[in-house]
Amino acid sequence: MNKKRILTGLQPTGALHMGNYFGALRQMTDAQDEGEMYFFIADLHALTDISNEQAQHSATERKENSQHLLAASIALGIDPKKSIVYRQSDFPQIAELMWIISCMLKHNFLTTGHAYKDAAQEKQDVGLGVFLYPALMAADILIADAQVVPVGQDQAQHVELTREIARKFNHIAHEDYFTEPQEQIQKEVAIIPGLDGEKMSKSKGNTLPIFADEETIRKRIMSIVTDSTPQGQPINTETCLPCIYLEKIMPREEYGTIANRCSKGDSTYKELKEVLVEQYLTYFKDAREKYEKISKDTRYLEKVLERNRKKVSTLFTKQLTKVKQVLGIV
Ligand code: ADP
Ligand code: TRP
Repeated sequence: MNKKRILTGLQPTGALHMGNYFGALRQMTDAQDEGEMYFFIADLHALTDISNEQAQHSATERKENSQHLLAASIALGIDPKKSIVYRQSDFPQIAELMWIISCMLKHNFLTTGHAYKDAAQEKQDVGLGVFLYPALMAADILIADAQVVPVGQDQAQHVELTREIARKFNHIAHEDYFTEPQEQIQKEVAIIPGLDGEKMSKSKGNTLPIFADEETIRKRIMSIVTDSTPQGQPINTETCLPCIYLEKIMPREEYGTIANRCSKGDSTYKELKEVLVEQYLTYFKDAREKYEKISKDTRYLEKVLERNRKKVSTLFTKQLTKVKQVLGIV
C-alpha cells in the first residue's frame, strides 16, 4: 500500500516555542516511520511583514530565523534521512502555482480568511501578502500532492480553503487532478495557551521558547499570569497555566500527583512554576543539547536542504505542468 504523503510548513519568524512543537512538529516526528514526510521552512509566508515599513525584519534576521527553524526542527526529531526537508523559496514552482490559484479566486472568498479578518480589524489597509496567504498555502499543499496536513487549530481554515481550491480546479479540469488534503489536528494540543492565557504565538511575545538559555526560560515561566487563589485553597488545574503545561510534558501518573495536591489546596503557583522550570528543561534536554551542536553548523544545514532538492523539484514541476496543460499554457 502506498504511504500517505504528510506535509507541514512552519514560518521562520522567531524562536520556536512549545505551541509549534505540540501543534505541528511532534505530529510530524511521530509519523515519520508511517508516512512520506514533507517538512518545509515557509520563508515566503514570512515575507508578509515587508508591507509594513516600520516593523520588518532585516535580511540577516531572516537568514538567522530560517537557520534557527531548520536546526530546531532537526533537534526536536525531524530526521532529514526519513523526512524530505526543504525551504519554500528554493522552489519557484510554488509561487507560479500560487499565481494560477490566485486567478481562480474571488476577492470575497479570501475576505473570509481568519488571518485577513484579524489583520483588517487592526489596520485599515492590509498587505496583499496577508490577503493572498491562503493561496500560497494552498499552492504549498497542492504542489506536493499532500494528503495529510498536521497543524494547530488556527491553520484548519487554510486547509479547508485548500480543499475548496482543489475542488474548483478539478471542476475546471473535469478530472480529479488534485487530492483533497485533510488537516490533522490533535485535540489535546490544538491550541496551547501563551503565558498570558491567549494563544501562544511568536507575534504576541507570550511564548515559552524551547531553545532559549535557562535564565530566559526561568524568567518567562516565573512571569506566567495566574489568578489570586489564596494559599491553602484548591487550584483549578483546568485554568492554571503551569498545570496545563505540566500535563503536556510529564508522565501521566506524576502529573496526577501534582493535580491531586492542587485540588486539595496543598500547592502554590510559585511551587508549580518551580516544578515547571525543572520539568521543562528535562523534557527538552536532549533537543537542547542537539541544537547546541548543529545550530552553528551551516555546512550541515545547507547539506540537509540540498539532499532532496532534485527530487522535490521534479515532483513540483510535474504537478505544475499538469495544471498548465489543463489551462493551455504549455
Ligand atoms: P506562530 O503563531 O507562533 O507564528 P506559526 O504560525 O509559525 O506559529 O505556526 C506553526 C505551526 O505551529 C502551525 O501548524 C500552527 O498551527 C502551530 N501552532 C502555533 N502556535 C500554536 C499554539 N499556540 N498551539 C498549537 N499549535 C500552534
Ligand atoms: N501558515 C502556516 C502557519 O502559519 C505555515 C504554513 C505555510 C503551512 N504553508 C503551509 C502549514 C502548508 C501547513 C501546510 O503556521
